[in-house]
Amino acid sequence: MKRREFSVYSVLQLWFLFLIEFQNIDGKQVWPVPYRRVDRRPGTDPYCQALYPFCPTGDPEGCIPHMSDKDVISVFRLQTPVWEFKYGDLLGKFHVMHDAIGFASSETGRNYTMEWYELFQLGNCTFPHERKDIAAPFWCNQGAACFFEEIDDIHWKQNGTLEKVGEMSGEQFNSLAQWVQEDNETGIYYETWTVRSDPGTNSTTWFESYDCSQFVHRTYRKMAELGAKISSKTQTNYTKIYLYSGEPTYLGDEETIFGQSSMKALAVDIRKFYHSFQPHQSVFQFLLSLIEAYKTVVLKETFYLFYNSEYWHLPMKPPYIQITYEEVPLP
Ligand SMILES: *[C@@H]1O[C@H](CO)[C@@H](O)[C@H](O)[C@H]1NC(C)=O
Ligand SMILES: *[C@@H]1O[C@H](CO)[C@@H](O)[C@H](O)[C@H]1NC(C)=O
Ligand SMILES: *[C@@H]1O[C@H](CO)[C@@H](O)[C@H](O)[C@H]1NC(C)=O
Ligand SMILES: *[C@@H]1O[C@H](CO)[C@@H](O)[C@H](O)[C@H]1NC(C)=O
Ligand SMILES: *[C@@H]1O[C@H](CO)[C@@H](O)[C@H](O)[C@H]1NC(C)=O
Ligand SMILES: *[C@@H]1O[C@H](CO)[C@@H](O)[C@H](O)[C@H]1NC(C)=O
Repeated sequence: MKRREFSVYSVLQLWFLFLIEFQNIDGKQVWPVPYRRVDRRPGTDPYCQALYPFCPTGDPEGCIPHMSDKDVISVFRLQTPVWEFKYGDLLGKFHVMHDAIGFASSETGRNYTMEWYELFQLGNCTFPHERKDIAAPFWCNQGAACFFEEIDDIHWKQNGTLEKVGEMSGEQFNSLAQWVQEDNETGIYYETWTVRSDPGTNSTTWFESYDCSQFVHRTYRKMAELGAKISSKTQTNYTKIYLYSGEPTYLGDEETIFGQSSMKALAVDIRKFYHSFQPHQSVFQFLLSLIEAYKTVVLKETFYLFYNSEYWHLPMKPPYIQITYEEVPLP
């Protein structure tokens, strides 16, 4: 009996190793790993409770008003600091910015703000919860687009940016609105980290983030594709949160890792890894957790990344973690 159990176990393990090898040797693994979209956004789990309501002044159905085809819509680049914070020389000065896009109709004089952000804040999108009754770390990591009337000039202008970057027709705006609805319905999980092989210009990107600034870049690209012309008089810098690692290894989805006894050791390791990070209510606490993550990562040179609802092992290497504020030109 003992022997039979052992052989079943070995076959499973061999099969698993074979799958991993197959993926790499065959050169099938595409970098960066494509962000996986869903057919329809599922509801959020009742366990996930937002401290601040998502999109409080937006339309409850996410409707975007229809503009007349001949209208001229001004487009604004909006940016404001979420938090500026200096922590010794370890990670330098954090420059964590939030990005949005503004629109103003010349026919009606009304204006609008559009942004994409976490339903349950940044901390919840970056670190999971430990729950007594559930083996796998529990993620509250959905993000979504929010469209609401009004641009709060002071909020954006005072410590950030409010700059007109172009114009589009009402017709182009209506097409953009339809694209936003589809994008919002299919791209639903927030990804904080960009994972790269090193900070150099020739580095390989293993994973792309999926956050507020990526939404803004996608939207600008879509506008350009629709024929709108946008340009900025100033340098357009954005926040990126980087991890640096050697080639990542695929570990499995939640069910595989946390549902099979053969994966017990890995499951325990992943839980232990995420255990060190506190529940996070504010960006300040998030940054403190990031510093904890930094220490753990430097010590163990290991990071368990959760991407597309699957886990990957990252063999971490210097400089491990970086927050940059770097230029991404408009299309
Ligand atoms: C993060 O998620 C937990 C669990 O649902 C929730 O209690 C907390 O309010 C969330 N934090 C924020 C800032 O929304
Ligand atoms: C995006 O999806 C969220 C979550 O379902 C919803 O609250 C929001 O109104 C949607 N936004 C747009 C612009 O469709
Ligand atoms: C948006 O509309 C408000 C209210 O009419 C106005 O105060 C503000 O200046 C407008 N902002 C832009 C960027 O058009
Ligand atoms: C701008 O920064 C100053 C100083 O840090 C702060 O007191 C003020 O509240 C900020 N304004 C806005 C609109 O965030
Ligand atoms: C980047 O790669 C190209 C082509 O392989 C090479 O010619 C160039 O010197 C590299 N640049 C750096 C900064 O390593
Ligand atoms: C903006 O990005 C450029 C290039 O990525 C960098 O040299 C510059 O220092 C950045 N500006 C700020 C204010 O950080």
